[in-house]
Amino acid sequence: MRTKIVVGNWKMNNTIAESTQLAQEVLAQLGEGFSGCEVGIAPTFLAIQAVGSVIGGSPVQLTAQNCHYENDGAFTGEVSVRMIKAAGCSHVIIGHSERRQYFGETNSTVNLKVKKAMSEGLTVIMCVGETLEEREAGVTGAVVSSQVREGLEGIDDITGLVIAYEPVWAIGTGKTASSAQAEEVHDLIRTVIVKLYGEAVASELRIQYGGSVKPSNAAELFAMPNIDGGLIGGASLNAADFVAIVKAAAEN
Ligand code: PGA
Repeated sequence: MRTKIVVGNWKMNNTIAESTQLAQEVLAQLGEGFSGCEVGIAPTFLAIQAVGSVIGGSPVQLTAQNCHYENDGAFTGEVSVRMIKAAGCSHVIIGHSERRQYFGETNSTVNLKVKKAMSEGLTVIMCVGETLEEREAGVTGAVVSSQVREGLEGIDDITGLVIAYEPVWAIGTGKTASSAQAEEVHDLIRTVIVKLYGEAVASELRIQYGGSVKPSNAAELFAMPNIDGGLIGGASLNAADFVAIVKAAAEN
């Protein structure tokens, strides 16, 4: 049985004070003793420490939205795995489509980051997903398979890895993939992992869905056999909505 995982990706939203308040609301509504599924929140780097002090010791996992693959050095504007670990992060999102689209990330930089973060013991959420043009051209399977294969190249042990399937056309657009559309791609991702790592590893791998998940569609998505939770953008900026989604995962 795979434990579901729901992570709120706050993206470039909220000051330190606003992030602190939102984290307090999430924790209060979830309840300190919550244990129904794995939960994380990913504030901006600036708010990581403040949010960490709110959720420290609680079941909510401090998550970074990105990392660099080198330890230190001349990489202006970047933050390393070593630094996010020292700041208290246990989880990191890598290769989000916005990073790929606006900041030039490719399957090979994603691969370097995944290698680094996994070797340092972080729980990695590796994001994959096709654009609208790719879906319409009928190449969703090919695109997602190569994102998975190339993102994991040279990694022998994927224990603890999480993959997030986020169709780019569904992110922040209000257009959710139907549960059947999402399930089809999740099943395909698991099949790719079977080929690369075998049945046992594939059956343990958690695959999150992301893209306009809301309290109203969460339960249906999480009921699908290969959907093991969600990566939540917009709805994670509202504590009540986020907690409702987490509870839907805990119940499915
Ligand atoms: P959304 O974002 O829920 O706002 O669509 C999801 C994501 O980008 O992780």
